[in-house]
Amino acid sequence: MPLEITPSGQACGASVRGVDLTASLDEATIAAIRAAWLEHHVLAFPDQRLSDDDLELFTLHFGPFGDDPFIAPIAGREHVIAVKRAAEETAPVFAEAWHTDWSFQETPPAGTCLFGITIPPKGGDTLFANQQKALEEMPASLRARLEGKQAVHTAKAAYAPDGAYGEVDQATDRSMDIRPSTDAEKTQLHPIIRKHPETGSEGIYGCLGYIAAIDGVDAAEGMALLGELYQWQTQDQFVYRHKWQENMLVMWDNRSVLHMATSGYDGHARLLHRTTIGVKT
Ligand code: SIN
Repeated sequence: MPLEITPSGQACGASVRGVDLTASLDEATIAAIRAAWLEHHVLAFPDQRLSDDDLELFTLHFGPFGDDPFIAPIAGREHVIAVKRAAEETAPVFAEAWHTDWSFQETPPAGTCLFGITIPPKGGDTLFANQQKALEEMPASLRARLEGKQAVHTAKAAYAPDGAYGEVDQATDRSMDIRPSTDAEKTQLHPIIRKHPETGSEGIYGCLGYIAAIDGVDAAEGMALLGELYQWQTQDQFVYRHKWQENMLVMWDNRSVLHMATSGYDGHARLLHRTTIGVKT
């Protein structure tokens, strides 16, 4: 049965029906999903009752597992983490800031899969910003200042002991099992403008947050340029707002979109299971 793919009508994203992800997928179906993923950057598969085994198997159709640092996996699994918040929790919502997953790694994950288990009745949408579209529409003068430059990526501001999820956060009532570490202080260079490794389409990679500086550029000047880039790349016209349902799987392409969680569901629990799609090395 062919996939039924319905674009979101926003800057990226499509929903996919006509496939049962608990069944074994043939090569043609996997290829069709991969093609749709590369085209739309974010795919949502509603009404899929996935177990953690199913989620892992689905992930492995698109690459090896990625390496997920700083967050402990759920019991009995090496590659599944829980993105969760209890109804009564007061700690800040996890990942409510634009980023692309683990961009501070030497080989960051190609994609991320997130499966909705407990979804609040309001709030908790995930936003995605299409970075190929943001580059395509970027003023030539801004692009010229970024062209050929490398960004310094680091997890320091988030996961170092003095970072947002560091020692101060450990004293909150956060229900996620986050493990801050001095490993977060390492840095990694990636080009700011780069070609997608599968499609060759150019896009912006990463943003302020995991990007702390521009290599070889004076710190203040680099920060000002990164701030300008951030204002450009996160504008509403590049954004798809994803609304969750229980039993919905979403997969996104970390190489072409930024994403962020949103709040607005205090008093309600939210639980999703997440895997990352790594890159064959
Ligand atoms: C994430 O960045 O993986 C979390 C996204 C979300 O909770 O909506």
